[in-house]
Amino acid sequence: MEILKRLTHHIAIALLRLFSPLMPDRSPVTLVGPGSAKNLCESIGQAGVKRALIVTDQALVDLGLVAGITADLESAGVIFTVYSGVEPDPTFRHVEEGLSKLREVDAQALIAVGGGSPMDAAKVMAAMATNNRPLLKLRGWFRIRKQPMPLYAIPTTAGTGSEATIAAVVSEPITHAKNFFIDPKLMPTMAALDASLMTGLPPHITAATGMDALTHAVESYTALTSTAKTERFATTAVRLIFENLPKAYKDGNDVSARSAMALASFYAGMAFSRTGVAYVHAIAHTLGATYGTPHGWANALVLPHILEFSADASRKRLAELADVIGLEGNGERDKARRFIDAVRELKESVGIPPTLDDLQRRDIPSIAERALAEAWATYPAPRYMDQAQAEELIEKLVA
Ligand SMILES: [Fe+2]
Repeated sequence: MEILKRLTHHIAIALLRLFSPLMPDRSPVTLVGPGSAKNLCESIGQAGVKRALIVTDQALVDLGLVAGITADLESAGVIFTVYSGVEPDPTFRHVEEGLSKLREVDAQALIAVGGGSPMDAAKVMAAMATNNRPLLKLRGWFRIRKQPMPLYAIPTTAGTGSEATIAAVVSEPITHAKNFFIDPKLMPTMAALDASLMTGLPPHITAATGMDALTHAVESYTALTSTAKTERFATTAVRLIFENLPKAYKDGNDVSARSAMALASFYAGMAFSRTGVAYVHAIAHTLGATYGTPHGWANALVLPHILEFSADASRKRLAELADVIGLEGNGERDKARRFIDAVRELKESVGIPPTLDDLQRRDIPSIAERALAEAWATYPAPRYMDQAQAEELIEKLVA
């Protein structure tokens, strides 16, 4: 059985390597810098949109971030309705609720304001709005036939990169199992990377989301499906994150560091959207589904261990990343080691501990099994992992 799994994994990855460069290469029109959200609102008006649905969460409404955007929409002559019911790790319920609001007000476009959760929920709403098919018929790879409704993305965290990806993740309401929607048509129409919306983020969210972006960039750079183009995106993101995440963590009002992190998150999204992610995400998703661990936090916990696990297989890649962040070393092995140490130090410098308090030893076999099931066919990891190896790795996270 294990031999069969391993064989099908290798065949699936070989096919992905062959076909992923042929995927349509999309990216959103991107506006960058403080004030760019206002420019995006003007562009929505200029595009002839009269009625739009804002998809967001209640915390951002309470913080007053959404009010700034609605004022800009009013100036641009766009009538808006706000759906603020999205919660972390959105479920089918949130998508259905937003969609019924969208139909009720006859919206012509969606504006996602927030982190990955509102953006992912809005992507699936946009697809359902034009495809008139049940949500489950759209899940998976390339299942979206008609171009979704225009989607404008205003990220308020720097990490998920959803504004630059062709993927959305929506969970099942009871089991919290993740459902993936992957299609080039899900790429947002336009995105504004406006750091002035990010200065209020508390340090622990800055840390977790920044480490999510780093995980995207590193998993993409070490993926078997990487290309010259994704490598440029990934290395730019890695460099920007090492330079700016500690600054944004220490001083949330450092707009220059926040802008650099917003850009890094976007580039990391452009990279992993084309290559996919690997075991760090598979395990982090399962920790999130089991204990509600925030996505970036879980990634940060797992990333150094996966880099250790695949250190030999990705030695050259990790040594190159050491060069990217200016680390000296004696040959590839030494440089790769120094890069892994630097990742661990960065994570610790932004207050993320080595272990997860919620993690229970008895849950480890099932977490390992579910993570490997997620990763098995499509995650282009540099080294294949089996059940015993996954359990041994997760064991290291026990407090
Ligand atoms: Fe992620």
